[in-house]
Amino acid sequence: MAEAGIRLQKVLAQAGLGSRRACEDLIAEGRVEVDGVVVTEQGVRVDPRSAVIRVDGERVPTAPDVVVLALNKPRGIVCTMRDERGRPCVGDLVADRADRLFHVGRLDANTEGLLLLTNDGDLAQRLAHPSHGVEKTYVATVPAPIGRDVGRRLRSGVELEEGTVKVDSFAVLEALPGRALVELTLHEGRKHVVRRLLEAVGHPVESLVRTRFGPVRLGQQRPGTLRAIDGAELRSLYTAAGL
Ligand code: URA
Repeated sequence: MAEAGIRLQKVLAQAGLGSRRACEDLIAEGRVEVDGVVVTEQGVRVDPRSAVIRVDGERVPTAPDVVVLALNKPRGIVCTMRDERGRPCVGDLVADRADRLFHVGRLDANTEGLLLLTNDGDLAQRLAHPSHGVEKTYVATVPAPIGRDVGRRLRSGVELEEGTVKVDSFAVLEALPGRALVELTLHEGRKHVVRRLLEAVGHPVESLVRTRFGPVRLGQQRPGTLRAIDGAELRSLYTAAGL
């Protein structure tokens, strides 16, 4: 009878960690862990659907059917997979896909930018949960000039209705006459948090784009398009979710 499972080096190679030979080296060097145990012998068989595999401590997602997509959500699209009121929604942009996708957290209808979608419900939940504190970066257009103490106020904490909220970083990217582009990074994921923060410091948002979610960046991806997350980027995302 054939042995159950697939050889570890093959699973690692299929997950994008290099050739089977290179993956055998990773195993021999003691860098690979299966279900919490370092494996150094060759030929161990694993079930890629259920085994928790790490290389250098970083999770290697091996379930063959996991899908993670980066969407550049256009402005005017509501963040639901199906909208009861028939408004254009995120679900419409992935209507041709067979996977049952979840969106990771939310963006306001009039915010554009990076929204992750996945069929891994556990990943979606953990990435969106405040306890994992995944960093998100936003670029906002606001009225200028920007007061000298705005960055300091945002970094030291602004009183909002739920309590004090801080940003991790704040920078003015571009100052135009009457208008500025500012960048904020924060761990918070509460509703309208960026709009409320900037309003509270006297700079109501005119437009807002999310440019980063944890290790994933929007880059030059065009609005309305999808990009598959895989390889090192996918491993970093699972690690950021504490999986
Ligand atoms: N903060 C906001 O105000 N809006 C978003 O869509 C996301 C974060």
